Amino acid sequence: MNLSETPADPLAAYRIAEQPYYRPSAREVALYEHAWRHRLPLLLKGPTGCGKTRFVEYMAWKLGRPLVTLACNEDMTAADLVGRYLLDTDGTRWHDGPLTLAVRHGAICYLDEVVEARQDTTVVIHPLTDARRMLPLDKKGELVHAHPDFQLIVSYNPGYQSSAKDLKPSTRQRFAALAFDYPPQEVETEIVAHEASITTELAARLVRLARRTRELRQQGLDEGVSTRMLIYAGQLMRDGVDPRDSCDMTMTQALTDDHDLAGALRALVDASFA
Ligand SMILES: Nc1ncnc2c1ncn2[C@@H]1O[C@H](COP(=O)(O)OP(=O)(O)O)[C@@H](O)[C@H]1O
Ligand SMILES: [Mg+2]
Repeated sequence: MNLSETPADPLAAYRIAEQPYYRPSAREVALYEHAWRHRLPLLLKGPTGCGKTRFVEYMAWKLGRPLVTLACNEDMTAADLVGRYLLDTDGTRWHDGPLTLAVRHGAICYLDEVVEARQDTTVVIHPLTDARRMLPLDKKGELVHAHPDFQLIVSYNPGYQSSAKDLKPSTRQRFAALAFDYPPQEVETEIVAHEASITTELAARLVRLARRTRELRQQGLDEGVSTRMLIYAGQLMRDGVDPRDSCDMTMTQALTDDHDLAGALRALVDASFA
């Protein structure tokens, strides 16, 4: 995209052409539609790799809205969200950041893993989350009133329990929240079979294994095997990679550096693929 020209559809790059595959677990689709109707800011909480991002992609497609997704991290600055002056041939020109584009033109803006962002970055979203629905661009001296179709969604993983990485009450209380978890057993089996193109039988075996690892959470494992990891494992197995090697790469090594925990995970894998 040539940034020096204003494109006809500033959100063209963010439109979702094809229906994303999404298999609902409960009432989340209907509940989200109610939240959307009122443009409530929404917090999706749940473990990594359980389907939050896919859900948002699906809902944006279903509602016919563009989706601006931003993965938050501690190097992200407020300017990365709202925009900045950049030098070009005619001098300096203001360029809207992705959040500003969504606010101005009416997209769903999804801030993934919002706790990873620094506090000074998080505060820029506050005026967007109350009745004012506006975004002050301090550097530019402009107050952007949100487009009627703008909605803010953030995700957050309550599993990583470090107080430094918790969402401040002043931030989280601005959102309605939907709790996500790994899908029910049959649904997760269907998802893994679909996404990894493997048999239902193999997918079911992987899901049973994952459910056992999730019980190890009490024994020091931060999180068990996610739906995403199962899909990775299934993809390797489909290529003919040995099940133990597949699980070692995509689950055990990915989840822990601890010798004992790795041993416990390998024992579960061996029992599943004996
Ligand atoms: N309900 C679901 N329907 C379809 N695919 C799913 C679902 N849940 C998880 N997945 C699959 O798992 C992968 C990881 O999910 P993702 O949405 O990225 O997780 P999160 O955002 O919670 O970390 C997705 O890319 C998708 O392949
Ligand atoms: Mg995600």
